[in-house]
Amino acid sequence: MLVIEQLHKSFPTAQGPLQVLRGIDLTLARGSSLALMGESGSGKSTLLHLVAGLDRADSGRILIDGEPLHGHGETALARWRREGIGLVFQQYNLISSLDVAANLAFQARLAKRHNPQWLAYLAERLGLAALLDRYPEQLSGGQQQRVAIGRALASRPALLLADEPTGSLDEASSDEVLALLLQLVGEAGSSVLMVTHSPRLAARLQHRCVLHQGRVQGS
Ligand SMILES: Nc1ncnc2c1ncn2[C@@H]1O[C@H](COP(=O)(O)OP(=O)(O)OP(=O)(O)O)[C@@H](O)[C@H]1O
Ligand SMILES: [Mg+2]
Repeated sequence: MLVIEQLHKSFPTAQGPLQVLRGIDLTLARGSSLALMGESGSGKSTLLHLVAGLDRADSGRILIDGEPLHGHGETALARWRREGIGLVFQQYNLISSLDVAANLAFQARLAKRHNPQWLAYLAERLGLAALLDRYPEQLSGGQQQRVAIGRALASRPALLLADEPTGSLDEASSDEVLALLLQLVGEAGSSVLMVTHSPRLAARLQHRCVLHQGRVQGS
């Protein structure tokens, strides 16, 4: 479903352009999972932002089901951001003025794919059923993380983009949350591209690749 061809991205700096991605090629089949690894500063988050349509590459293409992400104008791009993807970042980015139930439903409502049964199921599986009327500041880090995961999956996005989604949890909790995430991703029918520093967690996904000096190593 996702094909990345010769993606280049640089950032302007005082010392001239910083070449972060120097020809990334990558393929992710529908329903499959890929762990994106690589040292700090290797461009993992940059790549995720490009795939999310939050930033633009200098050159190269991102194809979604064969269609270039930037080929159909801003409306199509906005639609991809709203309906095509789910995002989970290390900072959970929950909306502090909304309770857990409203946070969970937020993106699905925007995508016009709010399904109360699926949402109730997600809340139950994520251990959030008793916390639905709480506000983000009244939750632990792990609970906020699970809300972020539920919110991202509530719209059953084609692609879940996760940037160190368990980065601030301890080892046991990250294993547990990742197992749950992968299971729910499967039930949602989503593909997943996940950044992680942990070889242990990466091993749980179907495929792995490493960013190094702006290119992809591995399979
Ligand atoms: N908006 C920006 N302007 C200038 N430089 C940037 C910008 N965003 C990222 N960079 C630089 O691009 C490089 C890649 O950053 P990126 O955040 O993609 O790395 P990463 O692989 O996600 O690292 P980490 O594992 O630490 O999260 C870094 O050198 C970073 O400083
Ligand atoms: Mg990063």
